[in-house]
Amino acid sequence: MTLRVLALDHVGVLGGAELSLLDIASAFGDEMSVRLFVDGPFRDALANRGVDVQVLPMGALASVRKESRTPSLAALAAAWRLAEVVANEAASADVLYANSQKAFVVAALAGRRARRPVVWHLRDLLGAPHFSALNTRGAVMLANWLATRVIANSHATADAFVRAGGRRALVRVVHNGVDPAPFDAVSGVAPRALRHSLSPDAAYVMAVFGRLHEWKGQQVAIDALAQLPAECALWVVGAPLFGELAFETALREQAARLGLTARVRFLGFRNDIAPLMRAADVIVHTSTWPEPFGRVIVEGMLACRPVVAASAGGVGEIVTHEETGVLVAPGDAAALAQAVTALRASPARAARLAEAGAAHARRTFGVPAMVDGVRRVLDEVLA
Ligand code: UDP
Ligand code: GLC
Repeated sequence: MTLRVLALDHVGVLGGAELSLLDIASAFGDEMSVRLFVDGPFRDALANRGVDVQVLPMGALASVRKESRTPSLAALAAAWRLAEVVANEAASADVLYANSQKAFVVAALAGRRARRPVVWHLRDLLGAPHFSALNTRGAVMLANWLATRVIANSHATADAFVRAGGRRALVRVVHNGVDPAPFDAVSGVAPRALRHSLSPDAAYVMAVFGRLHEWKGQQVAIDALAQLPAECALWVVGAPLFGELAFETALREQAARLGLTARVRFLGFRNDIAPLMRAADVIVHTSTWPEPFGRVIVEGMLACRPVVAASAGGVGEIVTHEETGVLVAPGDAAALAQAVTALRASPARAARLAEAGAAHARRTFGVPAMVDGVRRVLDEVLA
């Protein structure tokens, strides 16, 4: 059956949710159109893959944050206006598919107007600490009332939705998939030139990938580096995608204060994730709040690098401790430093974990399985 899916996302930059939708939309091809609420590199990335994409500006809806206690009347009015535009487009679609919380609010209103089913791909852990109580309650009420299905990116995300009052019967879990191709392309060799250009003197490189945000925990990686010998370096890969400029400044100050300026490289947003991971010795995931899923962990595994990850949220669905990686308590810099030291001391164990991780990631977190999962839910909705 050929589908006509109208996908919505309020974000214009390349976060994990957007990179995931990029693969989903590419796979659906002509069956999916994407509407964003703000322009940016995500639109270019979709267009480059031949996806039908347009930007519908969100106006005052932009001012609502996850931690917002009450959305302003202007924001509600903007959501309503945007829903009208989306409802017109939805007339020629079978189903609305929302990839972010704000997009879901608009999709829910539009779906009601246009009498189209709405699927919410939920990629966030609702409730504290990520969302304010009001924001959580509003989203869950709207989902229980107007969503036909909720796709959760992990069991942890599904459970948080249910704990917040969401109806379990609505939820289907579809784990993220990551395309192994860029990792295969660099699998044979360590990219020495890249490593040398970034940290010529380092004997051991620890790398953390992700947007700069306090809860992503780059500060924990810097604290851990302070406990490692001088020949160890840290690469911080990622940018403050949602305006966290003060946090980036604080990270640089922290490194300076600890005398680590020469050992920490801030690389900003990069598109060459696979070669960078391949050029590092260990990939660390440092989120201090529960991570809904964590694509960077799967990527570290696909790069065949040992991964040390913060054990909370969906992370335990990706990594089995001492089998496919190492888990440490979130926010514990000493434990992170210790785990990295142990991996460095035993290259054979590090290689064994990396290889088991790579095999597991390939088997479990492929793009086809993710796309099939999403398609099954859409088929179920339209049946
Ligand atoms: N990423 C990237 N360039 C960077 C930093 C991160 O392309 O400089 C990608 C990373 O490879 C991963 C995604 O951003 O695919 C982050 O996804 P994740 O699920 O780990 O976290 P999110 O940002 O969605 O919370
Ligand atoms: C969100 C989550 C992240 C997840 C991504 C893809 O951005 O923060 O944990 O991996 O969505 O579903």
